[in-house]
Amino acid sequence: MKMQFSRILILFLMAFAFSSFPFSAYGKDEVFVVSEKMALLKIKKSFIDPFGILLSWKSDDSSYCSWYGVSCNANSSRVSELRIKGNNTNKLVGNLSHAVAYLEELRVLSLPFHDLTGEIPVQIWELQNLEVLDVQGNAIQGDFSSYNFTRLRKLRVLNLGFNRIVGRFSPSLAKCRCLSVLNLAGNGVNDVIPGFIGGFEKLKVLNLSSNRLIGRVPVNFGVKCRDLEHLDLSFNFLQGEIPRVLGKCSHLRTVLLNSNKFSGVIPSELGGLWKLEVLLLNNNSFTGEIPSSLGNLTALHVCNLLFNNLLFSSENKTIRRCSFVGNSSLTVTPRMSLALAPPMSQQSNESQRVAAPPQGSNQSRNDEKGLTALEITVAVSVALAFVAALAVLVSLCKNGKEEPPSVPRIEASISPDVSNITIFNDVGVVLTYEKIVQATRNFSWSNCIGTGGFGSTYRVEISSELTLAVKRLLTETVDGTIQFEAEIQTLGSINHPNLITLIGYYKSDTDMFLIYNFLPGGNLEKYIHERASRVFNYKVLHKIALDIGLAISFLHDQCDPRIIHRDIKPSNILLDNELNAYLSDFGLSRIMGTGTSSNTAVAGTFGYVAPEYALTSRVSDRADVYSYGVVLLELLSDKRALDPSFAAYEDGFNIVSWANMMLRDDKIEDIFYTSLWEPDSEEKLKAMLHLAVNCTADLPNRPRMIQVVEQLKNLQPENLRTMEILNSSIIEE
Ligand SMILES: *[C@@H]1O[C@H](CO)[C@@H](O)[C@H](O)[C@H]1NC(C)=O
Ligand SMILES: *[C@@H]1O[C@H](CO)[C@@H](O)[C@H](O)[C@H]1NC(C)=O
Ligand SMILES: *[C@@H]1O[C@H](CO)[C@@H](O)[C@H](O)[C@H]1NC(C)=O
Ligand SMILES: *[C@@H]1O[C@H](CO)[C@@H](O)[C@H](O)[C@H]1NC(C)=O
Ligand SMILES: *[C@@H]1O[C@H](CO)[C@@H](O)[C@H](O)[C@H]1NC(C)=O
Ligand SMILES: *[C@@H]1O[C@H](CO)[C@@H](O)[C@H](O)[C@H]1NC(C)=O
Ligand SMILES: *[C@@H]1O[C@H](CO)[C@@H](O)[C@H](O)[C@H]1NC(C)=O
Ligand SMILES: *[C@@H]1O[C@H](CO)[C@@H](O)[C@H](O)[C@H]1NC(C)=O
Ligand SMILES: *[C@@H]1O[C@H](CO)[C@@H](O)[C@H](O)[C@H]1NC(C)=O
Ligand SMILES: *[C@@H]1O[C@H](CO)[C@@H](O)[C@H](O)[C@H]1NC(C)=O
Ligand SMILES: *[C@@H]1O[C@H](CO)[C@@H](O)[C@H](O)[C@H]1NC(C)=O
Ligand SMILES: *[C@@H]1O[C@H](CO)[C@@H](O)[C@H](O)[C@H]1NC(C)=O
Repeated sequence: MKMQFSRILILFLMAFAFSSFPFSAYGKDEVFVVSEKMALLKIKKSFIDPFGILLSWKSDDSSYCSWYGVSCNANSSRVSELRIKGNNTNKLVGNLSHAVAYLEELRVLSLPFHDLTGEIPVQIWELQNLEVLDVQGNAIQGDFSSYNFTRLRKLRVLNLGFNRIVGRFSPSLAKCRCLSVLNLAGNGVNDVIPGFIGGFEKLKVLNLSSNRLIGRVPVNFGVKCRDLEHLDLSFNFLQGEIPRVLGKCSHLRTVLLNSNKFSGVIPSELGGLWKLEVLLLNNNSFTGEIPSSLGNLTALHVCNLLFNNLLFSSENKTIRRCSFVGNSSLTVTPRMSLALAPPMSQQSNESQRVAAPPQGSNQSRNDEKGLTALEITVAVSVALAFVAALAVLVSLCKNGKEEPPSVPRIEASISPDVSNITIFNDVGVVLTYEKIVQATRNFSWSNCIGTGGFGSTYRVEISSELTLAVKRLLTETVDGTIQFEAEIQTLGSINHPNLITLIGYYKSDTDMFLIYNFLPGGNLEKYIHERASRVFNYKVLHKIALDIGLAISFLHDQCDPRIIHRDIKPSNILLDNELNAYLSDFGLSRIMGTGTSSNTAVAGTFGYVAPEYALTSRVSDRADVYSYGVVLLELLSDKRALDPSFAAYEDGFNIVSWANMMLRDDKIEDIFYTSLWEPDSEEKLKAMLHLAVNCTADLPNRPRMIQVVEQLKNLQPENLRTMEILNSSIIEE
């Protein structure tokens, strides 16, 4: 009672400070009304409000419950919520006044994305009714250990992300047992993760990313995590193993542990997280085999295991959606049966990458001599150097000798001042970083159309007439030592009707993306999967095969210096509505890398990589020919590169071994996809099959791409009514 009275007294005194305020109310309730209004005005006064966000907060207006951002309890007229969100163009500046503590019934204090500075006033810790405290994205300073949460028993959301809060964890945080969101990301908290966090039973989101956390993850972490959906401990200095109990947090959808110092094996229990969509374990020191249980994660959308010391599992099936371009210390184990990896079936549009030992590495490969030819074929599935043999080719072409059909273009140039995106090919509108970010809804998953080792691709609808595809690169894999600008300009100047057009790019220290034209027909992997419902005959087959052949041949032979693609596979081949095919992702290995010295690192996609490349990381244009041959075999047959049905055969059996076996057994007709086998195309189909088999020869004495194209030109369909056929295939769609 006493306390209450003295507070009222203070408020009165405070009220006098605002001399313009007409004093008329003396009753108890009225005093509250006065005081709440006074408190709000005092809060306003401590802000600088350059954009006039609080214009509606006027001292001569008593209806403060309807001021911008203010909500009141209906029956008491006391302020219950203060929600004002800032943004780049509209923000409050200054300090948060301690007067906020007079709003005793405040439940929600949400002032994210302003420029608030100074400390959180200590009076806040008296607000017993507070459920949400959100000051994310300001510049608030403070020592976290001094925050006293003892009275905040009802706190559900504590969002202090991206401020300047340092120090150790406040022990009193343990009292907030109702916490469902705890976000301290992007501060300077330097401490171990306290054990009590593992005791928060209602926790849904825990984001401690980008602090200075050290030590191990508490072992009880995951014991009481029924509700946990998002766990982000990335970019800290955490070490030790991941607690196995984490596998019990069955609602987890995001697990980001990347860029720490975690070690030990990846717990196989993670394979039980059936809702898991995103798993980032890259840039740690995990060792051992990649648990096969991860293959059970059907919802997994993005998985990155890059930059660890993982072994590729020798006998287990491996994980379809994980990128694990490696460290050169990754050994190819003796009977490495990559072909047993699950098929790249269904909607899988992710790369499977694995590193192979570099040539001449001191890694023990003592069993190598024991490899049979078949096993070598198997290991096949590895590889494609990221930065690969620098000595080797892999340069970008300037201009081909053949003039490609001219597309109006602005020569590689820095775009006008109005845009911070460098444009190579004008699309008629000014593109800015913000415009792209907004159109992708901040790179939301719903706009994601594919993910691979270099990053994810998003569909970007700029206007009803203009749709683009934006490939956001994993900045951590960008090779800082290369001359990015020069390389990208060269890429931007490449022009061929069957190569996807690079429209422009954005690059800063924190973000980087490439902008391409968007192709509505999806990728060839999807097409192959859905072709039963389309017209798929020899003419269509031939057109796709020739288009891609021309694109590769252009990269190999008409560029100076030439480009080796190194990752040719159906998901890198895009289609438009007329079934013109376009090759994508060329030249990226040039930009993305692991450092100049890492010409030892090898990366690639299972099932498509030439054997010699997998084993020696020696790259040549004939490795592309091999990958092309595998794609051709997939188009010709109803089998995938690593078809599930191959599990019945020995380790390492793949589509190449299968085709050779069928030929040997004289079952050539059984190879072809049913709708292809028409009387007038039989001979040509057989010739194309032989071509594909020649392209996928074990030894690199395969034909050159230009020869492949010549042969394809000799295999033109009879009466080329392509448009007619293609039109009908679209109608069927
Ligand atoms: C409104 O008043 C009733 C009774 O006085 C109380 O039980 C209820 O909690 C109040 N509602 C709010 C939102 O304060
Ligand atoms: C920024 O905030 C102001 C006021 O809160 C709002 O009116 C405006 O629409 C916001 N702008 C953007 C781009 O979100
Ligand atoms: C904010 O508070 C700090 C000290 O806490 C003070 O130095 C500074 O002047 C205040 N800024 C404003 C705008 O009131
Ligand atoms: C925190 O607040 C509680 C109750 O207000 C008080 O008992 C306790 O001593 C405070 N703790 C610290 C470290 O100030
Ligand atoms: C953690 O916070 C950072 C920064 O706000 C954000 O980028 C990241 O997505 C958050 N993680 C989760 C799991 O929400
Ligand atoms: C890897 O993690 C460390 C912290 O453990 C960090 O300093 C470094 O920047 C990270 N590297 C990359 C490429 O993200
Ligand atoms: C994958 O899931 C199936 C069915 O739940 C289970 O029987 C199998 O053991 C799991 N595989 C692995 C490797 O965990
Ligand atoms: C994975 O491989 C190891 C040996 O490499 C074997 O012991 C284990 O049983 C395999 N697990 C599965 C699920 O196949
Ligand atoms: C690979 O990992 C080993 C440790 O196992 C480390 O010494 C080496 O530097 C790493 N190599 C690269 C290229 O990161
Ligand atoms: C990009 O350019 C626009 C327009 O000039 C500008 O408003 C914006 O701040 C710039 N953004 C970045 C990230 O540089
Ligand atoms: C990529 O995979 C995701 C999830 O598996 C799926 O939703 C999406 O449609 C796929 N994209 C393409 C282009 O196949
Ligand atoms: C395949 O290679 C063999 C031997 O190198 C050659 O005789 C044959 O003509 C080639 N066939 C095709 C279709 O390229």
